[in-house]
Amino acid sequence: MKTSAYADPSDPAPLPESPACERNRAPILDVLREAFATRRHVLEIGSGTGQHAVHFAAAMPWLRWQGSDRAGQDLGLARRLAEAALPNTPAPLDLDVAHGPWPVAAPGTARFDAAFTANTLHIMGWDAVQACFAGLDAVLADDASLVVYGPFNVGGGFTSDSNRDFDAMLRARDPRSGLRDLEAVDALAARIRLRLRGDIAMPAHNRCLVWQRP
Ligand SMILES: C[S@@+](CC[C@H](N)C(=O)[O-])C[C@H]1O[C@@H](n2cnc3c(N)ncnc32)[C@H](O)[C@@H]1O
Repeated sequence: MKTSAYADPSDPAPLPESPACERNRAPILDVLREAFATRRHVLEIGSGTGQHAVHFAAAMPWLRWQGSDRAGQDLGLARRLAEAALPNTPAPLDLDVAHGPWPVAAPGTARFDAAFTANTLHIMGWDAVQACFAGLDAVLADDASLVVYGPFNVGGGFTSDSNRDFDAMLRARDPRSGLRDLEAVDALAARIRLRLRGDIAMPAHNRCLVWQRP
């Protein structure tokens, strides 16, 4: 597994900013403080700008927060982590969940005891969502936690008009994208021995889904 080569830490351009990250990081952190209270090694998938990685790693210094994203998606992740210079954020990894390779947690520690991803499952295609859970199966420890943040459909329907509009926008941009059914994602999780322990309402019709092994 190579470290990210897609960002030059000396690039003088302003770092990309996600306003959504600024809005949602506090309520997500409330969930993670509890879900990851006894965790050590977190793998974040689709870290994007790295704003979540920096905020969560700074607030939870007992974690080693491994950010990642697919190569070519340069949203400033490597630069933001380098600028923050936190002791618990190793260099981000290139990880496309559809292709791997999936990383080890740390030198001498094969598997992660936690994973996190935000606003990714409705961006990647369903085949990639399936590959994501299949890949997680091998890299998650037997007592691992998984937290996924984002908008989901429930009972086969949208939970708000804004989510309906968002789904239409996503599908117009890329037909493989679109809001996922919570139940379908939970079925993928169940296949890899993750049991849904929490479904927490977040602002703006988002959710935090918390799974736990065994
Ligand atoms: C809407 S952004 C969310 C970024 C960040 N997690 C956040 O909440 O701001 C979607 C992210 O999913 C990532 N992504 C999409 N498909 C992916 C794949 N197959 N493997 C890994 N990451 C993927 C994108 O590169 C992007 O960073």
